[in-house]
Amino acid sequence: MAEHPTHSDHAGHASAVPGAGVDEIAEANKAHFDATAKSEISPKWIEMAQRCGAAIRANYAFDEDTTVLMDFACNIGLTSRELAPYTKTVVGVDISQGAVDAFNEAAENQGLAPDEMRAVCAELKGADGELDGLKFDVITCALSYHHFADIAGITRTLAFFLKPGGALLVVDIVKPASHGDAPLFDEKYSHVVPHTHGMTKDGVQAAFEGAGLNEFAFKPITPISMHGMDAVMFIAKGVKPSA
Ligand SMILES: C[S@@+](CC[C@H](N)C(=O)[O-])C[C@H]1O[C@@H](n2cnc3c(N)ncnc32)[C@H](O)[C@@H]1O
Repeated sequence: MAEHPTHSDHAGHASAVPGAGVDEIAEANKAHFDATAKSEISPKWIEMAQRCGAAIRANYAFDEDTTVLMDFACNIGLTSRELAPYTKTVVGVDISQGAVDAFNEAAENQGLAPDEMRAVCAELKGADGELDGLKFDVITCALSYHHFADIAGITRTLAFFLKPGGALLVVDIVKPASHGDAPLFDEKYSHVVPHTHGMTKDGVQAAFEGAGLNEFAFKPITPISMHGMDAVMFIAKGVKPSA
C-alpha cells in the first residue's frame, strides 16, 4: 500500500511531492527511465559517472579478483562501467526494464559475460531468495538517492544485501545551506525527484545508522552542473558490522 509522505525530514522518510507516496514515485521513476533509457548516453552524463566512479574508488579498496559489487539504481550502467574493471562481478539493479535492457546490451557489446557484468530489473525488498541469495562486498548508488521517497527503507534494503563487513557507498547532491527554500531540481521533475532540495548529511546519516551501518563518513566531492544548476556532490559510506 502506498504511503503518503509530505516533506523531506531528517530521517529521510518523506517526499516533497504532496500526495505522492513511495509506490507512486517508484512507478513514475520506472516510466520516466523506461522512456529515457535510449537517450541517457551524453558526454555530460558520462563525465558525471566518471566523477562518481573516481570518488567511489577513492573510498573503497576494490580487488578485481574478488570484489562482488551491486550498483543499485544503475540505470544504463554508466557508473557500473567505470567500476567494472576493478571488480570480479558487477550486478546492476534497477526498476526500469528499459534501462536494464540498455545496460545488458552494452555489456554484451563490450564482450562481458553475465558473471562479469549484468543487470536485473527488480524492486528489491530485502527478503531471502532475492537475487538468488547473492550478497555483496560493496553496494554503490550514484546520483539516485534523490529519486527515492523512502531513503531509510531503501538503505535498510541495501544493508540486507551486504556481506558482514561490506560497505555501502552513496553519491548524491548536498542540500545547499545558502539556497533557502528554492528547490535545486526543476518543478517538472518533482514526480520523480522527491528530494527536490538535495540531501542533508543528517538525513543520510540517520538512514545509514537506522539500517545498522557503522563507521559513517560523509565527504563533499567536486561540484557539478546538473539540470542547469551548480550542485555539490557528496559521498557517504557506511559499513555493515562483521558477524
Ligand atoms: C539518475 S538515474 C541513476 C544513474 C546511474 N546510477 C548512473 O550512475 O549512471 C536514477 C535511477 O534510479 C532508478 N530508480 C528509481 N527508483 C528506484 C527504485 N525504487 N529501485 C531501483 N531503482 C530505482 C531509476 O530507474 C533510474 O535508472
